Amino acid sequence: MKPLIAANWKCNPTNKKQAEKLFVDVKKGIKSFKKAEVLICPPFCYLPLLSKLKNNIELGAQDCFWEKKGAFTGEISPLMLKDLKVKYVILGHSERRRYFKETNEEINKKIKKVLKVRLKPLLCVGESQKERKEKKKAEIIEKQIKEGLDGIFSKEIKNLTLAYEPIWAIGSGENCSIDETMSSVLLIRKIIFQIYSRNQAEKIRILYGGSVNSNNSQSYIREAKTNGLLIGGASLKPKEFVKIIKSV
Ligand code: PGA
Repeated sequence: MKPLIAANWKCNPTNKKQAEKLFVDVKKGIKSFKKAEVLICPPFCYLPLLSKLKNNIELGAQDCFWEKKGAFTGEISPLMLKDLKVKYVILGHSERRRYFKETNEEINKKIKKVLKVRLKPLLCVGESQKERKEKKKAEIIEKQIKEGLDGIFSKEIKNLTLAYEPIWAIGSGENCSIDETMSSVLLIRKIIFQIYSRNQAEKIRILYGGSVNSNNSQSYIREAKTNGLLIGGASLKPKEFVKIIKSV
C-alpha cells in the first residue's frame, strides 16, 4: 500500500495567488515522485483553481455537509466537491470537533454521504492531553471510531482512511513518540478488526498527524508503521513539505 501524504492547509493562505504558488511549488518539487500518493486539502474557495492544476497531486476538502443539496445556508455538499475533482474529504478533524462542536453522530452522517457519492472520507480521531493523562485514550478513540462508522458496512470501507491525531500534538511542536504512535495505530487496527472482516479492514490506511516535519516524518512511516501522514503547519512551507514527501 503506497503511503498517503496529506496536507491540511486549514484556513490558509488568504489569497488565491499564494494558494496557487504554494500548490505549484509542491507540484514542481515532487515532479515524477511516485513512492507516495500526495494529497492537498485547501480551503473550499481554492478548489476550482487548483483542480485545473492538479495532475500529480490529489485534491481533498477539509469538511463537507451530509446532504447533497437543498436549503442549508453556508454548506458545501459532497456532490459539489465531486464536481471539482476532489477525491478525499477530511472529516472529524479535532478543530471542527472543538470549535464547531461537531459530534460523532454528525461526522457519521457526513462519512455516509461522502461514501455514497464515491468520495474518500479521511476520519480523524485522537485524544486530548487531559484524556491521555486520565488514561481514557482507548475509550475515546473507540467511541470516535464506533460512532463515526456506525451503520457503515464492510463492502463500503475500502474507500475509508483513518488518521490518528492526538490533539495535544497538533500545532504544538510536541509530536507523539514513535512508540506511542505505534501503540495507538495498533489500537485503531484492533478496533476496526472488531467491526469489519479482517481482509476488508486490512486495506484501511491509518495515518499519523501532529507536528510532523521533515526530521520526524520518515520514522512515522518506517518505524511506527503508519500508512501515511496528515500535515498541517509544515504543509504551508513547500520545500519542507516536499522534503517530507520524499522522506517516505
Ligand atoms: P500540524 O497539524 O501538522 O500543524 O500539527 C496537523 C493537523 O491538524 O492535521
